[in-house]
Amino acid sequence: MSNSIKLAILGLGTVGTGVINLINDNLNELKRRSGRDIIITEVGTRRQRDDIDTNIMQNSDLMAIAASDNVDIVIEVIGGTTLAKDVIMQAIKNGKHVVTANKALLAEHGNEIFAFAEENNVHVAYEAAVAGGIPIIKVMREALAANKIDWLAGIINGTGNFIMTEMRDKGRPFADVLSEAQELGYAEADPTFDVEGIDAAHKLALLASIAFGIPLQFDKVYCEGITGITLQDVNYAEELGYRIKHLGFAVRRDSENDSDAGVELRVHPTLIPQDALLANVNGVKNAVLVNSHPLGQTLYCGDGAGAGATASAVMADVMDLVRVLGSKDRDDQSNTGHHVPHLAFIPDQLSDTPILRADQMVTGYYLRVHAYDSPGVLADITRILSDAGINIDAILQKPAHKVGQVPVIILTLPVVESQMNLAIEKIEKLETITDKVVRIRLDELA
Ligand code: HSE
Repeated sequence: MSNSIKLAILGLGTVGTGVINLINDNLNELKRRSGRDIIITEVGTRRQRDDIDTNIMQNSDLMAIAASDNVDIVIEVIGGTTLAKDVIMQAIKNGKHVVTANKALLAEHGNEIFAFAEENNVHVAYEAAVAGGIPIIKVMREALAANKIDWLAGIINGTGNFIMTEMRDKGRPFADVLSEAQELGYAEADPTFDVEGIDAAHKLALLASIAFGIPLQFDKVYCEGITGITLQDVNYAEELGYRIKHLGFAVRRDSENDSDAGVELRVHPTLIPQDALLANVNGVKNAVLVNSHPLGQTLYCGDGAGAGATASAVMADVMDLVRVLGSKDRDDQSNTGHHVPHLAFIPDQLSDTPILRADQMVTGYYLRVHAYDSPGVLADITRILSDAGINIDAILQKPAHKVGQVPVIILTLPVVESQMNLAIEKIEKLETITDKVVRIRLDELA
């Protein structure tokens, strides 16, 4: 076969190495599917590696690779938002298509990067940036293109899900499971991105844009991590028929009152029914549940991190671009107007729907209140909730675990967060309450 497609891989960490291995393992399949030879011509690496094929040029100057005539597609897998941005802009300027797994970069600078790519008639493909190997970008941009998406909920950080699963199933300590996730190549360079929900927030910003046709707005994502989750709450939730998962939600809220209409973008631990499919997505698996009209709910599940899963997504993008590059007509080759827009909607059709503030968001709640064991305590708490118009769905009072103190667990129906804030403030002022109220959001996923 002639007309080889020439790839440059910038970064030889977990993902870059995974891409090289995938190409070696599946070379014949790639060729049979694309009709082209796919070869790696250059790799960007800080130091020379002796485990790389000698036909591949190794170079520490990534800006030079991004401009090289010997490269058709630049695969950026170095991560970070500084050098990665420079090399991607350089590649675009030099007419190269780009494949990236860099969710942080796209969530923070994607509006600028995509606009620059459109100006230069090239594509920046990013399947690997969200949910690892699950082809969720392709599904949402293409397969669901005829639907109006109402909401989506996803387990979109493999490390976090791995930690929560191991803690729940095996009672392993948090730090121990996190080190294992790092060794397995799941965790971010800075693992606080995983456990504080920042990585999930990056991915949620991308998913929300392609779901609703809004510009990327990472800075408006409400974000809570998993570090505050205790085994005690995991167990109470299970007793009440729920499981705590770390989820990202993007929800379209239509309202008669314009000031309450908008989009909720939030990442937080959430109680979901134990029998929900999402509740049973464990380990490093990710899953995204999309509710759209007229299709209804669909669930996409698979490995959300790791070399093989991420390389699969990177190479799926490469295969799409091979077809773009393969077009006979040069004008057609790089005319982005013929292809799915970066954010799924035509750029001038992106809407300015507001992102709602945290206190405007509507969710159910799990509350854990510690009170002195005295007559009327429960009545005081429930009165405050009922005065605030908050509907209690379930209540569980455990026998005193310390002398004279009882944990009271309350599940509520959905309520506007500002109302819940006021109610919690009042509950914490009761003389019978001994500690801060613990609250975790709850969603029936219906
Ligand atoms: N650190 C990420 C995760 C890698 O654990 O999901 C994939 O984006």
